[in-house]
Amino acid sequence: MFPDPDPAPHAPDAAGSDPGADARPDPGRLPDGTATAEGTVRRRRVRYSGTHPRRFAEKYKERAPERYADAVAKIVASGKTPAGTHRSIMVAEILETLEPRPGQTFVDCTLGYGGHAREILGRLGDAGRLVGFDCDPVELPKTVERLRREGWDEARFLPIRSNFAGLAAGLAGAGIPAVDGILADLGVSSMQLDDPERGFTYKDDGPLDLRMNPQRGRPASEWLSRVAPEALAAALRDNADEPMAGPLAEAMVASVRERPVTRTRDLARRLHDLYRERGWTRDKAEGDARVRRVFQALRIEVNDEFGVLESLLRQIPTCLKPGGRVAILTFHSGEDRRVKRAFLEGQRQGLYEVVSDSVRRPGSEELRSNPRSAPAKLRWAVRSAQ
Ligand SMILES: C[S@@+](CC[C@H](N)C(=O)[O-])C[C@H]1O[C@@H](n2cnc3c(N)ncnc32)[C@H](O)[C@@H]1O
Repeated sequence: MFPDPDPAPHAPDAAGSDPGADARPDPGRLPDGTATAEGTVRRRRVRYSGTHPRRFAEKYKERAPERYADAVAKIVASGKTPAGTHRSIMVAEILETLEPRPGQTFVDCTLGYGGHAREILGRLGDAGRLVGFDCDPVELPKTVERLRREGWDEARFLPIRSNFAGLAAGLAGAGIPAVDGILADLGVSSMQLDDPERGFTYKDDGPLDLRMNPQRGRPASEWLSRVAPEALAAALRDNADEPMAGPLAEAMVASVRERPVTRTRDLARRLHDLYRERGWTRDKAEGDARVRRVFQALRIEVNDEFGVLESLLRQIPTCLKPGGRVAILTFHSGEDRRVKRAFLEGQRQGLYEVVSDSVRRPGSEELRSNPRSAPAKLRWAVRSAQ
């Protein structure tokens, strides 16, 4: 795997760090236990109350789909995403848009679980090549291992552990001047969302971190401990369209100054209390939706998601061959606005020959079978032939 090629401010991973390092147990192999000296796995029954596991740590079957294929298939059929996996969104629409063909070279800027990558690789054939970027040092090695096991060797699949803000530098480092297609499926993966240790969820308690690359930058708890009310209000407004951004930020900063918040559940509880006291929510569901908005705002902030997206959008035209195609899946208005603006501006400058004039959305069957696809919007553009 190529280490971080991106020396830019958004470069994710310190050179020399171990890209394969993941100190936590491998859920694919170990429900709870340890590999013995001989390499065999000793199992203890994972205990949970009730008939179904509820906590991430208890969902060992879902986290080992190779071993428990039937159990996982039932979960997928019920419209849920098995813990520790990711269901790729709008796959057919993306393939139709990008038209990958045998022998071509593609980039997947957001490798994630490798779902889109696998489909694209299948169409590029033996003479084609896919470069996969991801900044997540926890999940990337697992995805690379999975794809290698499926037979995608170094000649056809090149993973680069980097923020996609390092796209041009990463490709140059790999000796690839330009590519035929680029995909970016923005935001976080289900593996990141579901794992409480990453701090993206408050369904289970975990550290208030929310970084896609925990080796870079600072966790959300630290950012919150120092932020001024005005900056927090701006983040809540710009990143999550929070209508009560000003008063909410004032109250959050006061609460954190009184007692720092370091855990996801603690933050969620404080927010629920606050909404109730102020009469901002009528019921728990409304409170949950507002808590999710706060987590989204923090996540976008600590990962500088808009900054790196704008950097990527500036680099795409120079990384595409004439006639090359780009497709971007976004999940909220701040992202979609930026993609739309960059594509239209690129067309105005003659960099793009065609850009999508409207967004494509998931079809009704996908919405039913995978509710996480609901906010997705797909935009695309074709590089000019000159
Ligand atoms: C929605 S998931 C992608 C899922 C993937 N398309 C699939 O089918 O499995 C987004 C992934 O992009 C990664 N990611 C998000 N922002 C990134 C960035 N700026 N640079 C590199 N990777 C990023 C996340 O770590 C996550 O693994």
